[in-house]
Amino acid sequence: MSKAITTLSLQKYKRDGRKIVALTAYDYSMAKILDKAGVDVILVGDSLAMVVMGERTTHSVTMEEMLHHTRAVTRGTQNALVVADLPFMSYQVDVTQAIMNAGRFIKEARAHAVKLEGATRLNLEIIERLTGMGIPVMGHLGYTPQAIHGLGGARVQGRSAQDAIKLINDARAVQDAGCFAVVLEMVPTPIAKAVSERLEIPTIGIGAGNVCDGQILVVDDLLGKFTDFLPRFVRRYANLADICEEAVRHYGEDVKTQAFPNESESFILPRAQEEEFEKMLADLDKQ
Ligand code: KIV
Repeated sequence: MSKAITTLSLQKYKRDGRKIVALTAYDYSMAKILDKAGVDVILVGDSLAMVVMGERTTHSVTMEEMLHHTRAVTRGTQNALVVADLPFMSYQVDVTQAIMNAGRFIKEARAHAVKLEGATRLNLEIIERLTGMGIPVMGHLGYTPQAIHGLGGARVQGRSAQDAIKLINDARAVQDAGCFAVVLEMVPTPIAKAVSERLEIPTIGIGAGNVCDGQILVVDDLLGKFTDFLPRFVRRYANLADICEEAVRHYGEDVKTQAFPNESESFILPRAQEEEFEKMLADLDKQ
């Protein structure tokens, strides 16, 4: 019997030592597949900007675009918890802006929770206010892609002892502010372990070793559909780009040789109607 996953289910999974399975999705049909396969958390990530829209960073994706894709994902989901990523500059201005945009994800796109990056003073206030009004928030620490330029690139975070301690303190701060879970991205395994052991809320790792309470990947990376680059922490479970290319080539050949469509893929007329049509056509051509 399948059962809807809630933020409380995830916290119970951590207590029970049952790892959390999370993936991104950006559309209805993929969300349906993930949900059917038993994925616990579907994140409509702002990675959409890169893997769906072909941008080099996540910065350009807008609230309207995120809402559009989140709506599609929630329509395809029955059991998974759907988390919508607050895009760059949709929450960094002030608390009011963050509340308005987080509220839109819940109200207009039927998301169950939102995610934001970093543990600035403003973010902690946003987390407190959102959770206070019943909007669950997932944190995101370590490498935070919206800060790529400030961080000097997509780099592993928390390598020095000082940075590692800051990461632990930031993780505690987002937990205390009310986050129900936190993504740890590109963090050395021992640091991710130290954070996971010190938090009551689950950590969801991406490039943070197998010590976190769950794992998340970008679905297009896992399926080999996005092939521009392959981060070290990705494992490809399929090669969809090759499979799709092969299928499309085959279709092209069939179109050119008229092997597609065949009779069963076309609409034919009953014999009597066809004869009548041919007669009418002959009359028409005589005029
Ligand atoms: O946008 C995204 O896909 C993410 C995941 C990588 C965690 O934030």
